[in-house]
Amino acid sequence: MNEDLTKFNLSNFLFGESNDPLQAPPSFTKWVQMGSWAAELYEPELLASADARTTITYGGKPRPVINLCSYNYLGLANHPEVLVAAHEALRTHGMGACGSPMLSGMTDLHRELERRVAKFLGREDAMLFNSGFGGALGTISGLLRKTDVAILDNRSHLSLRDGAVLSRCRAEKFEHNDPDSLDAALGRQKGRRQLVIVEGIYSMDGDFGKLKELIDVAESHDASVFIDEAHSMLGCGDHGRGAAEHFGVEDRVPLVYGTFSKAFGALGGFVAGSKETLQYLRFYAHPYVYSCALPPVVIAAILKALELGTSQPELRVRLWENADYFHAQLHTLGIDTGASTTYVMPIIIGDRGRMYQLCHELRRRGLWVAPVDYPAVPQNRICFRACVTAKHTRADLDEALNILEDTLVPTALQTQSA
Ligand SMILES: Cc1ncc(COP(=O)(O)O)c(C=O)c1O
Repeated sequence: MNEDLTKFNLSNFLFGESNDPLQAPPSFTKWVQMGSWAAELYEPELLASADARTTITYGGKPRPVINLCSYNYLGLANHPEVLVAAHEALRTHGMGACGSPMLSGMTDLHRELERRVAKFLGREDAMLFNSGFGGALGTISGLLRKTDVAILDNRSHLSLRDGAVLSRCRAEKFEHNDPDSLDAALGRQKGRRQLVIVEGIYSMDGDFGKLKELIDVAESHDASVFIDEAHSMLGCGDHGRGAAEHFGVEDRVPLVYGTFSKAFGALGGFVAGSKETLQYLRFYAHPYVYSCALPPVVIAAILKALELGTSQPELRVRLWENADYFHAQLHTLGIDTGASTTYVMPIIIGDRGRMYQLCHELRRRGLWVAPVDYPAVPQNRICFRACVTAKHTRADLDEALNILEDTLVPTALQTQSA
């Protein structure tokens, strides 16, 4: 290959270069080696818990950092009561569930969590998945068929898009959060049944889905709506029931999907809805039927996290106060956070090289943010992603802002004057 590899991105290496599908394309390996200074920012080793301040490995050494990377929105991943509950389950139930929920992996703790999630969301039933990704993929592919159409926001998470691909339905996209574009897409595509797929909070842009407007459009075409509440569940709404509660549309969506890996601080996914639909889905969602159930120790932690997240609304209040404060300060510094209005904030840099260079500088100075590159976001929106939590103190946030100001603002000014 003679082309300039520095101009390549992940989309250029989809096709193999040999006859062996088990071999990585040599040009990919060369590309990663050439960009190792950028690649080394990925898969950093966390040496402690996902707390507001933690320690990661950087440059081969432990580096204390302010953590704006983890999804530990309410600080429940390391809450002392959660840890006690997990320890107790480890003692009574051992480590693994050792089977699919269908055959042997369902425990009394799993059933209890199903009941509590259903009650929390005001639904008849709930079922659990061993990952949020598998839950979204399993629900979409378990319910849609070849003759159906999935209409997805063009910033949808891959778990949703892969679910549509697996179902073999027709998949159509509409412009991000644009009711007119959804209207046009629904007008163009007629399947036997239509499902509009949106998110409560978009994981890269940190903006809310425009749920009311999009549901209005979907209903006018007799289409059902599926909301991915991965980032919004337990963090949004007066009672923590997600973006659907926040926008007052809960009674307009038949299923509720969320994850336990974000505000719950654990692992897994769930879907809640009518008994009949879930009874069907339990047999047709492959990641449910053919994959091991969550470990009981994780279920016990989630049960306690649910109890704390619903009985302590002050955690949500603190989360939103922190998010609003951080947004306001970033804007004062002239830092572009796109359309975000939530605790998930892109810090848009736009230029790949500069983003990686700045990301190194931030880590050297003790601030941990996630690099987000194309194709996860469009080329002109290459960014860091910062997640603010209820556990950050004002001092943590102010120190993070100082580091961002010292690192980013002079660069922005230099670029303007160049
Ligand atoms: C919008 C969205 N849906 C689903 C998932 C998958 O969740 P999990 O990480 O729990 O597998 C994610 C993960 O970040 C997400 O951002």
